[in-house]
Amino acid sequence: MQQWFTDAKLGIFIHYGIYAVQGVAESWSFYNGKMSREDYMKQLDGFTASKFDAKHWADMIARSGAKYSVLTTKHHDGVALFDTQYSDLSVMKATPAKRDIVKEWSDAIRERGLHVGMYYSLIDWSHPDYPSVFESGVVPADLSQVNRFSSPVDGIQDEETWQKFLTFNNNQLGEVLTNYGPVDLLWFDGDWERSAEQWNLPAFKEYLKSLSPNVIINSRLQGHGDYKTPEQGIPITRPEGAWEFCTTINTSWGYVHDDHKYKSLNQIIRMFCDCISMGGNMLLDIGPMEDGTIDPRQEDILLGLGDWIRAHEEAIYGTQDGIMTRYYLGGSTLSADKKTLYLFVYDAPKENICLKGLCNPIKKITVLHSGKELTHEIHGGVPWFDIPGTTWIHMTPEDMHEQVSVLKLEFDEEVRMYGGAGAVVTHN
Ligand code: GLC
Repeated sequence: MQQWFTDAKLGIFIHYGIYAVQGVAESWSFYNGKMSREDYMKQLDGFTASKFDAKHWADMIARSGAKYSVLTTKHHDGVALFDTQYSDLSVMKATPAKRDIVKEWSDAIRERGLHVGMYYSLIDWSHPDYPSVFESGVVPADLSQVNRFSSPVDGIQDEETWQKFLTFNNNQLGEVLTNYGPVDLLWFDGDWERSAEQWNLPAFKEYLKSLSPNVIINSRLQGHGDYKTPEQGIPITRPEGAWEFCTTINTSWGYVHDDHKYKSLNQIIRMFCDCISMGGNMLLDIGPMEDGTIDPRQEDILLGLGDWIRAHEEAIYGTQDGIMTRYYLGGSTLSADKKTLYLFVYDAPKENICLKGLCNPIKKITVLHSGKELTHEIHGGVPWFDIPGTTWIHMTPEDMHEQVSVLKLEFDEEVRMYGGAGAVVTHN
């Protein structure tokens, strides 16, 4: 895994597409029969991108504290946000926008020093060659349940047509990976409708790496990706290896007019802390309106998150997962040398913050945003048995940041935690 990715902690996901015209669910609305494909595609005529300002997007993303951004270059509906010579279904050729959104966006993102991530749906529910086979080549017993956008409804598979689709897929990915400067991250989606063998893995991955040797590929590649992508529900157990939690700000990926169920800034900050406390990144999604403007409620979250991150930077970038919640009932991170422990304090404490199982003496404790130094006391413990006592850090509500507070604990040595079950003290 590339170091920039694990150090980055925050990315901004963007679901921009024709679905914002009527404010319906991205791609799924026609796939699930909520509307006809014909009605869905009528949105092409309403996609103007008339106020799309890539520099403003990039500026806002940089101010959010994110170090990378991922844009839907093509969602499951097959509509490309880039200029593709392999299909007429693009915002360039088929909408009044007539702009290469991917080009303008990636230029602006790179100019702001951020890493460029391209979301690309492996599913293409619009391409005539796509529904030519079944997952793993297994024809289901009940053909009435087959979705015509995914697989042949008559149950007759056509391997040759599938191979044609793979060629088309490779061609479009060739465009995405070579026409827009260096791509840092390729964010696949929809691998689940075909097996690794059908996606021609691992040769497919080798092809992608040959075009862009340093590209990181997310997990959605039938076991051949570089990192895990839990979605919408925060992991409770730390996922193995590198990971990134993707989430919406309200409940929709794209812009849905009547979705007013927004998470609060405080909730978003806490979710972010939860992710980095377990060594992961958060990929926070925005869904721009069809004209390219961002709902102020989404922009406010991004800017508020950025303000909070800037006040607590050293507890975030370049850190690693912290101590387990059985030691401290909250989130935490550790500096790269493990000599500084950062505790996230979510709620105002009555009089103390409690830390159990800490083996080393604390050199200094400061409230990160204010610089105020805090005192502490230790009760209990059996040092001659190597069983630490409980550390009580004196902290009261006045010491709180208006969102989440961070306490910085400094040590001379690497932090060591006790994990035992205690013992009877047989020598006093
Ligand atoms: C899901 C959905 C898709 C969305 C994505 C984001 O897999 O299919 O609509 O783009 O998650 O993670």
